[in-house]
Amino acid sequence: MSTTPFPDGFLWGGATAANQIEGGYDQGGKGLSIQDVMPKGIMAPPVEAPTPDNLKLEAIDFYHRYAEDIALFAKMGFGVYRLSIAWSRIFPNGDDAEPNEEGLAFYDRVFDELEKHGIEPLVTISHYETPLNLARKYDGWVSRDLIGFYERYVRVLFTRYGARVKYWLTFNEINSVLHAPFMSGGIQTPKEELSTKDLYQAIHHELVASASATKIARELAPNAQIGCMILAMPTYPFTPDPQDVLKSLHTDHSNLMFGDIHVRGEYPGYALRILREQGVELDITDEDRETLKNTVDFVSFSYYSSVAESADPEVIREGKGNLFGGVENPKLPVSQWGWAIDPVGLRVVLNQFWDRWQKPLFIVENGLGARDELVEIDGRKTVIDDYRIAYLNDHLVQVGEALEDGVDLLGYTTWGCIDIVSASTAQLSKRYGFIYVDRNDDGSGTLERYPKKSFDWYSEVIATNGASLSR
Ligand code: BG6
Repeated sequence: MSTTPFPDGFLWGGATAANQIEGGYDQGGKGLSIQDVMPKGIMAPPVEAPTPDNLKLEAIDFYHRYAEDIALFAKMGFGVYRLSIAWSRIFPNGDDAEPNEEGLAFYDRVFDELEKHGIEPLVTISHYETPLNLARKYDGWVSRDLIGFYERYVRVLFTRYGARVKYWLTFNEINSVLHAPFMSGGIQTPKEELSTKDLYQAIHHELVASASATKIARELAPNAQIGCMILAMPTYPFTPDPQDVLKSLHTDHSNLMFGDIHVRGEYPGYALRILREQGVELDITDEDRETLKNTVDFVSFSYYSSVAESADPEVIREGKGNLFGGVENPKLPVSQWGWAIDPVGLRVVLNQFWDRWQKPLFIVENGLGARDELVEIDGRKTVIDDYRIAYLNDHLVQVGEALEDGVDLLGYTTWGCIDIVSASTAQLSKRYGFIYVDRNDDGSGTLERYPKKSFDWYSEVIATNGASLSR
């Protein structure tokens, strides 16, 4: 009999975000979100108003097809489904006094459906979908006012869903504000015009809002487990030169700082130094310092690739990864979008985070964005996605190794378990799913769903609790 390092009760599943899956961008009383004016993702500046070429407006129409999609997730044996709530469905303008009942009722129906199939929801409160009005009127998270609007929003969520949703994430990839200020922080001012202080002040406001959400959860949803969510990209020194090692440590710090604050409840010394050396004096009140002490229950993260760093300014930085990159690692293959493929890096990150924080971890994104070809076999349309199976298998084997290393891991949700619109490029052809969705980059397609080969593969992995992985 095969053995497995995955513990009983390990949460297997998949993940998506409202703006990339739902569509129905103007239905049910929803207001506009920043995504509705980002037809090209982060590849081009936002536009004034929604345009028909924006695939996210309809996305894959989960808004109407959620029951069918959740049934497919259940067929794979999902124990957990990570979804986000579109803030602008609940508060169409972000600063409204009262929530939109129709929006709340939509997620009631989604949670009912999940409950029916015994799937635990894992909810991201803010996943790159700040209400557009908050970007336009307040310049997003640069403004302290957003803390109050976010608090109002989470109070509504915890009151309404606190009894049925156990796992919550406060902000998706909170460290990405530095790299994608409009998408991640709803900051309207173009990146080139933002000062370093603006950026760190926006981040500070998000960190306070995140800690405040934890505090509110303790009061309104005592059974809730609150996690932070970090874009994990371990940095390897390009050479053994100590200067390269130091440079990678600094790059790592610029990401780890977010976990440190969420877990330890205060800014670490190295983060204060980063700010000091850049001449940034943050507006941090005594109340902020108190609020930050509301630390998280677990740490979640996305992992797609690692990156290398060098202290030598002559070394070319063409290494690509999710939202940011560094020096290309010649030892690693890359995806069709140039992201380094590094399964061992996932074991490295799991160990690094566990050693550092001793908090349960949750991998809430991992996967391969690839072009798929729909074929017909025995009268059934499908995709033979062996490349995706290989990617996921190799990463999961490393997760198993990390479990053997003693890491405490709650679960694993693959990114885009059904094909959705890409966040960075806004394409549908960058597919991550176990389920093919018939929609193309030009907007054509029937929106029909077709299970891929990986659908059966993942079902087997889940059914055997990881014993079927090829080591
Ligand atoms: C993460 C985001 O950055 O990576 C997701 O949380 C995103 O929203 C995912 O979709 C994969 O990135 P992309 O650009 O391939 O969609």
